[in-house]
Amino acid sequence: MTKKILILPGDGIGQEIVAEAVKVLNTLKQKFNLAVEMTHGLVGGAAYDKTGSPLPQETLDQAKQADAILLGAVGGPKWEPLDISVRPEKGLLGLRAGLGLFANLRPAILYPQLADASTLKPEVVSGLNIMIVRELTGGIYFGQPRGVRTLENGEKEGFNTLVYRTSEIERIAKVAFDIARKRNGRVCSVDKANVLECTEHWRNVVIETHKAYSDVQLSHMYVDNAAMQLVRAPKQFDVIVTTNMFGDILSDEAAMLTGSIGMLPSASLNASGQGMYEPIHGSAPDIAGKNVANPLATILSVAMMLRYSLDEAALAERIEEAVSWVLDEGLRTADIYSAGMTKISTSEMGDAIVDALVA
Ligand code: IPM
Ligand code: MG
Repeated sequence: MTKKILILPGDGIGQEIVAEAVKVLNTLKQKFNLAVEMTHGLVGGAAYDKTGSPLPQETLDQAKQADAILLGAVGGPKWEPLDISVRPEKGLLGLRAGLGLFANLRPAILYPQLADASTLKPEVVSGLNIMIVRELTGGIYFGQPRGVRTLENGEKEGFNTLVYRTSEIERIAKVAFDIARKRNGRVCSVDKANVLECTEHWRNVVIETHKAYSDVQLSHMYVDNAAMQLVRAPKQFDVIVTTNMFGDILSDEAAMLTGSIGMLPSASLNASGQGMYEPIHGSAPDIAGKNVANPLATILSVAMMLRYSLDEAALAERIEEAVSWVLDEGLRTADIYSAGMTKISTSEMGDAIVDALVA
């Protein structure tokens, strides 16, 4: 049966990198009989400019009907002056909440060919393969009440709320334990249980949920220590499970271990396996429109889509092998370039992946 993919390029480099991922999808359709149909939609600043909303109802409806969504990036300086309620980021957060995409998988894998691109010593990062499981529809990102209020003395006060209920923690912990079973069987839950009651509850629920997973090894770490351990000895981690905000921060940190944030894909899944796939980097307005951005994180997000939403694991592997092959050939976009390699553009990288796929 033909699966439906909604393509949401969004803002900044989103347009360019998604165009390359669409090239890859079209190649899979034409040469490998992948049965998908693609429709395009508006999200983020691009949607705001056309409709006055960063997440028009039409986009949300399209998203709900899709089997999978491919998203580029949202945001940029142009929209920063807007009220927070209509900023491009709200489009992304609205999709996550609207589709219930609570499980965000952010693998940080170091391609051996890029060991030199990391700012850390090759022996610290070589062989790195971490899966960050970030809770994505709860915590301080969505907690109520929130806002900026005026106190009696006239001073203003900003406030947000960190909340997690047992069921939200349980379901993300289960995702992490299930993934660990297919990997090296270790989960590290990251919290701030020494200070924040909410994450003390998080820790207790993770411990409780773990009782059904005695074959998985569970450890706990405070987030400040985890941030340090990620650069000190990152290979100690297999699966990390954590809250929405800690996961946001730690996944950017983990990305840099691999040399470039331009390499890391992500999957955001709901309870029925529907998923949204996006590179973890942002819209990079400084390099947008220059055909220099790295499309590999988006192309690798297509691989995750094939694996998690389209039941096409073999094609996912083909894409991952194509990426490896292109890196072996010494082809590099600017962010992963090092001396002796061949520097190529965004679209040339997309073409190289397509060539590798059909070779
Ligand atoms: C991410 C991004 C988003 C987040 C922003 C764009 C809202 O940083 O996906 O990591 O904070 O979740
Ligand atoms: Mg982030």
